[in-house]
Amino acid sequence: MRTIGICTGGGDCPGLNAVIRAVAKTAILKHGWRVLGIEDSFTGLIWPDRVRELKLNDVSGILPRGGTILGTTNRLNPFAYRADKDAGAICDLSDRCVSNAKFLGLDGLVVVGGDGTMRIAIGLYRKGLNLVGVPKTIDNDLAATEITLGFDTALHTAADAMDKIHTSAESHHRVMMIEIMGREAGWITLEAGMAAGADVILIPEIPFNIENICDAVRRRDEAGKNFTIIAVAEGVCLPEELQRKLEREKASHCRPRGAAEILREVIARETRKETRLTVLGHIQRGGSPSPFDRILSTRYGVAAVELLARREFGRMVSLKNGHIESVPLEEAVASVKLVDPKGEMVETARSVGVCLGD
Ligand code: F6P
Repeated sequence: MRTIGICTGGGDCPGLNAVIRAVAKTAILKHGWRVLGIEDSFTGLIWPDRVRELKLNDVSGILPRGGTILGTTNRLNPFAYRADKDAGAICDLSDRCVSNAKFLGLDGLVVVGGDGTMRIAIGLYRKGLNLVGVPKTIDNDLAATEITLGFDTALHTAADAMDKIHTSAESHHRVMMIEIMGREAGWITLEAGMAAGADVILIPEIPFNIENICDAVRRRDEAGKNFTIIAVAEGVCLPEELQRKLEREKASHCRPRGAAEILREVIARETRKETRLTVLGHIQRGGSPSPFDRILSTRYGVAAVELLARREFGRMVSLKNGHIESVPLEEAVASVKLVDPKGEMVETARSVGVCLGD
């Protein structure tokens, strides 16, 4: 092992720079290797002019910085590459990635990404690239690891935003809804909702009924609370009739509303209360990583380099019972890790009176 590469793929999240720093420092200081930064996910393997050497100076001061100094994209798949994102033929550039890796002298590669990036990594590994994976995504939906890097910071951001919305809800006696990211997994919504004392938490894993939500709002009014905080995951499935309305809008509008906006309208109508929706969006992916994420990213980065040193390719570092281990990449993408609707976390929320809409 003389030269290794690192790339970050998929949506960005806080902690990516901390991994890059840990990988570069461990490779350079401990092993005496050269480190190449592959830009914008696998783009640098398609066009090697998008590869640059990372020296210690290049990773100095990046530990607390959000984003990734290497850039990223969640729109590039070398196995199904489309030059023009809206049109044009799809071609397979995976062999080109493998031959460029040889051309660059890469003996090993650290791929930092979520499930989409790990799937691409598996394909490239099968074609002969000596690579290992590091799990990242604010969604925390990767199987085979307890926590992905970026999740903890997103949780802090979402909970902090809800705390701020809480005071406004109280002052205006309103129903305040906060839409939270996570695709089809409800981890950020459930945990941020619990951390911020949300009254109603709606996640994709638990189908809900609008009447139950409205009842919860009315019960709070009767108890003199006069305001309600609703945390709603972006991936919630609306009750059938509303879901059909959403699908119709998607088919006929260039900017269809999200599920949460449709829900807001119904809740406002049914409860006759002023109801506002805040979509947190990409704020959740930004900012300085929390101390937990900085440490986790550093542990993951160091462990990834050690996997390369031991030539244990085709594996992803993971956190299990507080320890850093590794699993075959296939295990990491075998299933999406979802909230268990009957699990301890959901039961805890119910015990303290949170309405989950079911
Ligand atoms: O997977 C991370 C994530 O932030 C999801 O929570 C969200 O649905 C998606 O990415 C948004 O992707 P984009 O940045 O392409 O809008």
